[in-house]
Amino acid sequence: MQGKLTVDPASQIAKIDDRVYSALIEHLGRSVYDGLYQPNHPQSDQDGFRQDVIDAVKSLNIDLIRYPGGNFVSGFNWEDSIGPKSTRPTRLDLAWRSIETNQFGLHEFMKWTQKTGTRPDMAVNLGSRGIDAARNLVEYCNFSGGTYWSDLRKQNGAEEPFNIKTWCLGNEMDGDWQIGHKTADEYGRLAHETAKVMRLVDPSIDLVVSGSSTREMATFGSWEETVLDHTYDDVDYLSLHRYYDNEENDLANFLAKSIDFDEFISGIVAVCDAVKARKHSHKTLNLALDEWNVWYHSHKQDDETAPWQQAPHLLEDHYNFEDALMVGTMLITLLKHADRVKIACLAQLVNVIAPIMTDEHGIWLQSIFFPFLQISKYGRGIALTPQQTATTYDSKDFKDVPYLDSLAVYNSENHEIVIFAENKGNTTMDFQTDLHDLNAQTVIEATQFCGYDIKQTNENQQMALHPNSNVHLSDNTLTASLQPLSWNMFRLHVTH
Ligand code: AHR
Repeated sequence: MQGKLTVDPASQIAKIDDRVYSALIEHLGRSVYDGLYQPNHPQSDQDGFRQDVIDAVKSLNIDLIRYPGGNFVSGFNWEDSIGPKSTRPTRLDLAWRSIETNQFGLHEFMKWTQKTGTRPDMAVNLGSRGIDAARNLVEYCNFSGGTYWSDLRKQNGAEEPFNIKTWCLGNEMDGDWQIGHKTADEYGRLAHETAKVMRLVDPSIDLVVSGSSTREMATFGSWEETVLDHTYDDVDYLSLHRYYDNEENDLANFLAKSIDFDEFISGIVAVCDAVKARKHSHKTLNLALDEWNVWYHSHKQDDETAPWQQAPHLLEDHYNFEDALMVGTMLITLLKHADRVKIACLAQLVNVIAPIMTDEHGIWLQSIFFPFLQISKYGRGIALTPQQTATTYDSKDFKDVPYLDSLAVYNSENHEIVIFAENKGNTTMDFQTDLHDLNAQTVIEATQFCGYDIKQTNENQQMALHPNSNVHLSDNTLTASLQPLSWNMFRLHVTH
């Protein structure tokens, strides 16, 4: 099997936005409670935050944390989560049919973002609530002082405003599972009016309007058109969400779903640009892919989980090796859209469809942790247009699927070309990279993630990235063997 990537630094997609390495933390299951916040745990600090979780989150170099949901936000009263903990109400969380104690709230979240070196991406409730709650929250968070809400923030211990830059106008408002689900016209009008008023409080904020929850929605495409008709001039980003599964247990077809992911993103870009043209606008709207991942292993268990528990085990997918390959190919795909995807949130981060899991002893890292770790650490710089040739296959739903998925990132500051390459086939691939007029001097690092049974999970922490010694660099050509079903990274020192 053959695969070739031509790396031409003159052929650039765009600079990769740091915010594509973001994640979602939702009040759901054990994500917050018994996840990042567990006051009586030996690993927890004086604020009740799990230090082992903080360390793992830091290692992933996450930028934004989208919060507090997800579906949860559409029934959430943010005022419940401020003030002395003893006075905060315990509520029914109707999105996940759980008990919410509000012991971890807005101030705790802001403190946690500081400790993890992340930044908030705050969602407002446009399901059960609307303009008033949203503008009060912006005033509470971002207004310096001298008003009811900003002074209450000070009284609650935060003298300085939080200055939250990025705000989501609701969550998945197109889905009938959503509390306060709306038609595209209803949501578009509300989003427009809410955006207007939030900006009156703080004109410097960035706004994300809700797009389609999945590509399968009957309203996919038309939802965006209608919503953007109302909000195109008000917002900075359109959100889109995408989860994949391998329910049919067909690995070739599962990994080929990166083609669907690619078409999904391109389709939404086309809709944005059609609205732009129709509106005679000079503004180009970018995308916030603010939920993406593999999600399906936990569905059955969740159906059987009794309602009205506090921090129940929900959406606790245990990811296997093939899921890591899927996450790897999704990461490469989203970097191929670096010109338009400016925010992307892995959904989620801790315990709930997450790379990081906690138990009473400590944390354990899932298979999907590894490709995310590498790409978020080294996928910084300019994404180069992949000029790739490779052997292809046909799967149940896709034709001419390349066995190779690859992309190079040019980091001019570090004089590095970083190549991410996935072999989706069951045999070794002869991989060649033509480095064009780059003067490649040394291979700094070559790693591979492979050799595991496709159904192997990582509770025992046996998975790791290993060096790849089958790599050769000469005459500006890198050759390497890509092991069957493998995720690979090559870092090259170059002068240009
Ligand atoms: O991430 C889990 C859920 O998936 C989120 O709450 C919702 O937005 C999406 O449907």
